[in-house]
Amino acid sequence: MRCSFFDIMNWTRKDLVGIRGLSAEEIQLLLDTAASFKSILGRSIKKVPSLRGRTVVNLFIEPSTRTRISFELAAQRLSADVISISKESSSIQKGETLKDTALNLQALNADFIILRHTAAGSAQFLAERLQSSIINAGDGSHEHPTQALLDTFTLRENLGSVEGKHVVIVGDILYSRVARSNIWALTKLGARVTLVGPSTLVPDMFKQMGVEVRRDLDAVLPDADVVNLLRIQHERQQKTMFPSLGEYIALFGLTASRFKKCKENVLIMHPGPMNRGVEIASEVADGKNSVVLEQVTNGLAVRMAVLYLLSGGTAMTDAPSPGDS
Ligand code: CP
Repeated sequence: MRCSFFDIMNWTRKDLVGIRGLSAEEIQLLLDTAASFKSILGRSIKKVPSLRGRTVVNLFIEPSTRTRISFELAAQRLSADVISISKESSSIQKGETLKDTALNLQALNADFIILRHTAAGSAQFLAERLQSSIINAGDGSHEHPTQALLDTFTLRENLGSVEGKHVVIVGDILYSRVARSNIWALTKLGARVTLVGPSTLVPDMFKQMGVEVRRDLDAVLPDADVVNLLRIQHERQQKTMFPSLGEYIALFGLTASRFKKCKENVLIMHPGPMNRGVEIASEVADGKNSVVLEQVTNGLAVRMAVLYLLSGGTAMTDAPSPGDS
């Protein structure tokens, strides 16, 4: 188990709204703590009492499968009381504001509000106005911090370290909160990051984040240790960003034949949901280099670590046992 100077400290943050504001040491602390929780998830008794008596509310104002289910399960594994609300099942449908909705959840003693929302900045907005801890589960095109943590955790498990590794992120970067959070996490941890896509979806301005921007996927693939494919986020795009889907696939889809240009041990990632046959071919998504479902499994341990540390849990040098609080 890796240790840092945080091993003797509590993590004092109230909220997790993004990766941008975290230090490399904080990211390592979260990943080390997730490793401890992953070992718990391999035991016959998977539950610990760390959040007993605490209330976790999942407030998802946008659809989700992976993030919502794994946050629910993470809170349950930590023995918290868990409630999930969607836009359709809340009074937001009747015109109540996000702030009023959250204040009502706080009035019911919600210790954590996990927010997914279409609006960038919505998690920060609540974090500044509530005493409850706010966790960003994805806000518009801004950030998706727990996705970046589970992605870096998966890389660390497979590669030992992300430092010095070449991570290529392909596709719709402009509208992607996953890409932004991954860029922050990977560059802070010393990886080399290259973004690939058409200039409409990967404008040169991304170079300001300390990454390379390329247009020719075939030229980049032979040097990649990791290829992370992103979905085209039609729901956030205001206009057509490329001439046709066929043309996009021809230039930027990871087809079976294009995959042959990759290193033999390349890792293939996708945050989901996947559009098979568009950004990734089924043979590649289901192939031996794919860690797509490992990413999902690791999301549970990572989200347990986030809840545990935000609740005031101390850094662990070993996994807690079912009797520890
Ligand atoms: N990766 C991700 O955020 O997936 P969901 O939208 O299903 O939560």
